[in-house]
Amino acid sequence: MKNPDIQAAWKYHDGTKHSCWSIRNNPHFLDWANRPQPFKIYPNIEPLPLPRDVPQTGVAALSTIAEPLPSSRADSVPDLQDLARILHFSAGITRQRKYPGGEIYFRAAACTGALYEIELYVVSSDLPGLDKGVYHFNPADVSLRLLRKGDFRGNLAHATAMEPAVADAPVTIICTGTYWRNAWKYQARTYRHFGWDNGTLLANMLAVSAASGLPAKIVLGFVDAEANRLLDLDTRREVSLCLVSVGHRSVSSLPIPREASALGLETIPLAQREVEYPAMLEMHGASSLESAEEVAHWRGKQLVLASSAPAGAEVQLQRLPEEEQPKDTIDQVILRRGSTRVFDKSASVTLAQLSTVLDCATRGLPADFLEPPGTQLNDLYLIVHSVQGLSPGAYFFRRDRNTLELLKAREFRAEAYQLGLEQQLPADACVDVFFLADLNRILERSGNRGYRAVQLEAGAIGGRMYLAAYAQRLGATGLTFFDDDVTNFFSPHAKDKSAMFLLAIGKPLKRRPQ
Ligand SMILES: Cc1cc2nc3c(=O)[nH]c(=O)nc-3n(C[C@H](O)[C@H](O)[C@H](O)COP(=O)(O)O)c2cc1C
Repeated sequence: MKNPDIQAAWKYHDGTKHSCWSIRNNPHFLDWANRPQPFKIYPNIEPLPLPRDVPQTGVAALSTIAEPLPSSRADSVPDLQDLARILHFSAGITRQRKYPGGEIYFRAAACTGALYEIELYVVSSDLPGLDKGVYHFNPADVSLRLLRKGDFRGNLAHATAMEPAVADAPVTIICTGTYWRNAWKYQARTYRHFGWDNGTLLANMLAVSAASGLPAKIVLGFVDAEANRLLDLDTRREVSLCLVSVGHRSVSSLPIPREASALGLETIPLAQREVEYPAMLEMHGASSLESAEEVAHWRGKQLVLASSAPAGAEVQLQRLPEEEQPKDTIDQVILRRGSTRVFDKSASVTLAQLSTVLDCATRGLPADFLEPPGTQLNDLYLIVHSVQGLSPGAYFFRRDRNTLELLKAREFRAEAYQLGLEQQLPADACVDVFFLADLNRILERSGNRGYRAVQLEAGAIGGRMYLAAYAQRLGATGLTFFDDDVTNFFSPHAKDKSAMFLLAIGKPLKRRPQ
């Protein structure tokens, strides 16, 4: 068992920190001629087109982001339209833009560098409109491709040590990460991006599942080799990251696990040549779970995170009253979302808008690694520049009390510019939300797998913040950061915590008519 040896996660984390020094001394450049393909293509498998004009859910976005999931006691089986909606609004193409070297196909969820290294696969029983099988989803032609015929859900139930959400689900989606598609630009830091980019996609997937009346749960406890074998992945290039069970059947129809022989399916090469980053393969290997017994043991451990009494003045958060909440549907919000490229420095948001974002995003993700429900691995620290009702300053979000605790008061725009990799976006936003985590404690409890969990949770909460901001017609963008400078900035409060994620929220600068 490699998972308990947590030096591996520390080695990866420390080895991929950004600092002023590391950025300035990195000779890496973008080799445009060797740019990876944005899609995985199986040239010899017939596409099964998914319906494109699926009816809108009509459900208000804010209520889907954070409301309790539909009960998983009653039967809820997705049909092909539900599945098409969930896949499209998680990983589908929502916009495209020309650039000198070609075309960028922007997708439903934010993704570092618009490189879209997360692939989705479907492991399904017979559904209305879809035969049982293992499929790959290709957003380019909005189709599924059948990789294995038959019901392989028993294999996933075994791989997850009979996690009930998976065992009772009519369909489970497997999310994978393709190293080179993102490492082309970000090198070994891509393993962090796997968590972030998978997480933003999960935020959409959970919201759209909820809007479709289907329970969904993120499952991170699984035997890696079994999931990878089911998809026949070349694991030096692509690996399973998490599973998402969708729907529920009260009377189990679970088949026994079946032989998953090698498929040898041809795929179009990603690029002329791929560079392998051993640090990521080591991190992945060290965080892999090797048997169903190890999975069951891993899932059984509960995490108790320390909480201290507030030392600074607190401001009570108050989300918008129900009747004043925007009613735009989740479909509309996802189609409208796009990372803000320039914030209006003179704009402000209200305390109610910020409260709504924080509240929606932190009500607890349905995930097997967040037990008891409501557990959260990441702590949120804020730099407030321009929020009506709040003095500019640095704050800690006390989720248990729904307050912001003031850590230090003054304007910190210059510091935000510096912490956010010397970018203008965090300086011009109204508020920057930094995610920091007590990595020591998380790794001690969950081993190296805890590292995957904390990055994935950060991405999913960040993704929910994107949605909650856009639902209120605000703007937002994920950002990267100088790791240790972030911890130092929020210390002594954040002493011993590690920086995980950054999201800036504000109002997009409206372009003046020419
Ligand atoms: C975790 C994360 C980090 C990001 N970091 C940066 C960043 O440092 N600078 C930046 O300009 N955009 C950043 N982005 C925004 C992406 O470039 C953007 O999501 C991508 O181009 C796709 O565009 P869209 O979000 O408009 O769909 C980040 C996005 C995410 C999800």
